[in-house]
Amino acid sequence: MCGIVGYIGPRQAYPVVLKGLKRLEYRGYDSAGIALIHEDKLTIAKKQGKVAALEESVGDMAMQGHIGIGHTRWATHGEPSDRNAHPHRSASGRLAMIHNGIIENYTQLKEELRTKGYRFTSDTDTEVLLNFIESIFLENECSLQDALLIALRRIVGAYCILLIDEHDPETILAARKGSPLVIGIGKGEHFLASDASPIIEYTKEVVYVNDYQVAIVKADELVLKNLGNEKQTPYITKLDMELAAIEKGGYEHFMLKEIHEQPQTIFDCLRGRLQPAEGKIVMGGVEQYMDQLIAANRILIVACGTSWHAGLVAEYLIEELCRIPVEVEYASEFRYRNPIIHKGDVIIAISQSGETADTLVALENAKEQGAIIFGVVNAVGSSISRLSHAGAYTHSGPEIGVASTKAFTGQLAVLTMMALKIARTKGTIDDNRYHDLLHQLQAIPEKVAAILEQTGEIERVAKKYADAHDFLFLGRGYNFPVALEGALKLKEISYIHAEGYPAAEMKHGPIALVDENLPVVFVATRDRFYEKIVSNVQEIKARKGKVICIATEGDTIIPGMADDVIFVPDADEVVGPMLSVVPLQLLSYYVGVEKGLDVDKPRNLAKSVTVE
Ligand code: AGP
Repeated sequence: MCGIVGYIGPRQAYPVVLKGLKRLEYRGYDSAGIALIHEDKLTIAKKQGKVAALEESVGDMAMQGHIGIGHTRWATHGEPSDRNAHPHRSASGRLAMIHNGIIENYTQLKEELRTKGYRFTSDTDTEVLLNFIESIFLENECSLQDALLIALRRIVGAYCILLIDEHDPETILAARKGSPLVIGIGKGEHFLASDASPIIEYTKEVVYVNDYQVAIVKADELVLKNLGNEKQTPYITKLDMELAAIEKGGYEHFMLKEIHEQPQTIFDCLRGRLQPAEGKIVMGGVEQYMDQLIAANRILIVACGTSWHAGLVAEYLIEELCRIPVEVEYASEFRYRNPIIHKGDVIIAISQSGETADTLVALENAKEQGAIIFGVVNAVGSSISRLSHAGAYTHSGPEIGVASTKAFTGQLAVLTMMALKIARTKGTIDDNRYHDLLHQLQAIPEKVAAILEQTGEIERVAKKYADAHDFLFLGRGYNFPVALEGALKLKEISYIHAEGYPAAEMKHGPIALVDENLPVVFVATRDRFYEKIVSNVQEIKARKGKVICIATEGDTIIPGMADDVIFVPDADEVVGPMLSVVPLQLLSYYVGVEKGLDVDKPRNLAKSVTVE
């Protein structure tokens, strides 16, 4: 997601827009840019990096004008760079536009425009949309407003756009579908933004623009229309949130916001790739290296932390579905072990930030030895994504909370699609199971949403055990990496010592830890290990341990045994980790909150560990 800001009124636009972008930097920080019109001249300044880099690049450049639009980018199409930064300028040079969203039919529009002689200076879908609007504007000799309405009826995808014309410095055109837009109503001035955080210091009267609406914004006039060019009445509401709350979408912390974003972020990850009706999974990077993947004698997975846990889930996925041996490596160990790498070995690199030093160096070494690197990364254009031969982005959006949550489920969604695609091509999965798993995967976003309805119960459990000094997290099969992830979440958020373990391993020593003061969290969803994990629960109960279970809805056995139960919807074990991890994310969050800790910025931690 990107940050959008606009201003028109008696003030100098530049300082208003620049400050607004800083408030929206949590929405994306790959690049930033501002366009202004002053004395009928359109000026655009834009720069890769954070808003501060833009400010520095502007220096003492004359950034004057009472109309301006600004953008802070989270890259989706085209890597972070100056040329891909917004605002974009149209081919004629007179229009400037910023955009938050994804235009899904941009390649078709780009081809149409190319045949008309248009050339492009960036890799973005936004530049295509802008020139599509301009082509209609110039060919039809209509108003820019009408050209915009015609164009919007043709495009497929999500957008929030602000558009200005050098020849009309009195008007900002705006439109939204699927990406948010708020307009602040001032006295003889208007403020536009992705959320109210850049607006609230100037006015608390706002209009939330709806999907398929277009706004024609002048300093002293706001007109809303639908795509049929019919006027709509603006509904003015009064903001009652404080600034800090708005940046977090009304949630107390970014971590909680990002946990709750998961139905959408998993949907965004699957969109355009998972096609159950057609029985297909479309992943260009996997297709490009499918021969090497199918022929691989083994697949190595290299990652750190939560991403390493995603790699463990991938080990179960790939070995079961694709029948290819998998070795999951801590990047920090792998890089120094002088590992045996054969030319053609496939390495899957998993990283939210794409900048983790241990992972990056491990991959550089492996690439030098001829390995094929497949990146599963969230940050578009990051070092690891650029180093990879191919890859798949998780499209989870900026993850601000230090504890990785939505990026983890995005990684699992990508890895599950990869495993299914390879297994289908290799012929190691039967038809029925393949099609069933496609539909199971498609249902994950709504099942995660159902789990998020239970935050009250999870908060109650968290408060009950927040004073514990130690926790154990136990699971089997696909749920063993989930147990590890649950333990890591609790450690890094609440500073309580927690250990993840294969449930069956307890009898080889750790069960000596069990007493009435030790909460033991079981990931005990219904899968092929269910009966065995029920026995493991009984072993703990027999030693007075406190048992918290993540169980499958409808389970009538576990509730009779466990001290506390959190239910998740039924799902095949292959896709189950995307569900069973969610209660554990919330559990660690609420324990941290109960202990009064800074859950977004835990002590000693950084969001991206770019040093050894
Ligand atoms: C996870 O909650 C931690 N913040 C940490 O373990 C993280 O997963 C690890 O540093 C790897 O980061 P990456 O995914 O950006 O490479």
